[in-house]
Amino acid sequence: MTPGEVEGLRLIVSAEELEVRITELANAISADYAGKRPVFVTILKGATQFLADLTMRCSIDLEIDFMSISSFGSGRSSSGVVRIEKDLTTDITGRDVVVVEDIVDTGLTLNYLLRVLHARDPLSVSVCALLDKDVRRIVDLPIEYRGFSIPDSFVIGYGLDFEQLYRNIDAIYEVVDVDRLIASPDAFVAGLFGH
Ligand code: IMP
Ligand code: MG
Repeated sequence: MTPGEVEGLRLIVSAEELEVRITELANAISADYAGKRPVFVTILKGATQFLADLTMRCSIDLEIDFMSISSFGSGRSSSGVVRIEKDLTTDITGRDVVVVEDIVDTGLTLNYLLRVLHARDPLSVSVCALLDKDVRRIVDLPIEYRGFSIPDSFVIGYGLDFEQLYRNIDAIYEVVDVDRLIASPDAFVAGLFGH
């Protein structure tokens, strides 16, 4: 859905900006992987909206698979201790892999995931992340395809959630008052969805 102005939320990436940038990312990936058939390894659940829009704009042959990982610590914090909850069904040995992520924050989650994937002997691994909160990075990571660099703030929308809410907003919003959201996870539901 497309919200209007909602008190406490600040638009940082509009639906139009997302569309333009995702098309650019898809064009770059399509050029780099021309003649190949990469596997897009998508991290559930936040990256699914991005995956759909990205792959529909790619002009190459590709495969899609999913992985679900949980970082211990909920809400904002990430500990780097990660458990695989759902693994790939594709054997990525000898394959070109493109990891599709919604947001890289400290980088701990992706760092763990990249180690797991490399241990399976893929031919290559690259990362396509829609959002990069680079000021919060703890571990240095290669991000070959980056949508937007964003400041250190908590964001929701376009797949990104807080306590499973707000994924189905078509733009990305900064939560101005995070304490309000922590106290009441559905604080913006009425403003966005009218109930
Ligand atoms: P990292 O391990 O600190 O890089 O955390 C990455 C994960 O934390 C992302 O895949 C998201 O699931 C979540 N995350 C980090 N920042 C945000 C945010 O601003 N909004 C929603 N989820 C976030
Ligand atoms: Mg994620």
